[in-house]
Amino acid sequence: MNNNKIGILDSGLGGLSVLNELLKILPNEDYLFYEDSINNPYGEKCDEEILEIVSKIVDYLLEKGCKIIVLACNTATTSCLKKLREIYPNTIFVGTVPALKVSFDHNFKNTLLLATPYTIKSTRVEELINDFKQSNQNIYLESGRNLAHLIELGDTKGIEELLKEILTPYKDTIDSIVLGCTHYPLVKESFKKILPNCEILDGALGVSCEVKHQLIVNNLLSDSVKNGNVIIENSKSEDLVDRSYKILSNIC
Ligand code: DGL
Repeated sequence: MNNNKIGILDSGLGGLSVLNELLKILPNEDYLFYEDSINNPYGEKCDEEILEIVSKIVDYLLEKGCKIIVLACNTATTSCLKKLREIYPNTIFVGTVPALKVSFDHNFKNTLLLATPYTIKSTRVEELINDFKQSNQNIYLESGRNLAHLIELGDTKGIEELLKEILTPYKDTIDSIVLGCTHYPLVKESFKKILPNCEILDGALGVSCEVKHQLIVNNLLSDSVKNGNVIIENSKSEDLVDRSYKILSNIC
């Protein structure tokens, strides 16, 4: 048993989509979610920059005594999870990858992956496609361009215009869309408007189940019977922290 916090990080509010699932399946745990809005977007940075930024946050979360670190960010995971495991051999990390396996396993024939410019080109995405896609299935890859940043800024008009531009050409082709960035599920309603008959998938449940599994096998579950505490910190401003608590209470 271990009642220390679960540490979560993302380049901003996107990690809320993961935290929301974690709270459902691990309600008695305490959480420290570090939103790195000042460095958003990660998806337009290179490996070296992402590793440098993310390592600093990992150091901070470990200083705060976190018992496990959740990269609630597809970009950070596909870019530097392997390196982080080498640098911090005694730390348990759980990463987030696009839910391509879920889409292929459910036999969707035409899947669109929408992710950050970094993730879409990553070797991890290539591996997931090679490992799980059947020969009778098609995969389309699209960069969400600056969508994560628009979501971070709360620019509703910009989000709707960009989604329309990116998704309209796929509207009659795809039966499933994988949201390969943790920011995207926060505007799921905008996706539904353009793709009303399409299955919308994301990785939050998969990550949360893996976190639970890691806590069980490492004997790190909390023995508290009360609802856990959630602390949110933001590298840019306190106002963004208030906004995130509000979003979390609306989606929970
Ligand atoms: N939320 C992040 C992800 O899942 C990254 C968004 C960004 O900073 O580009 O990829």
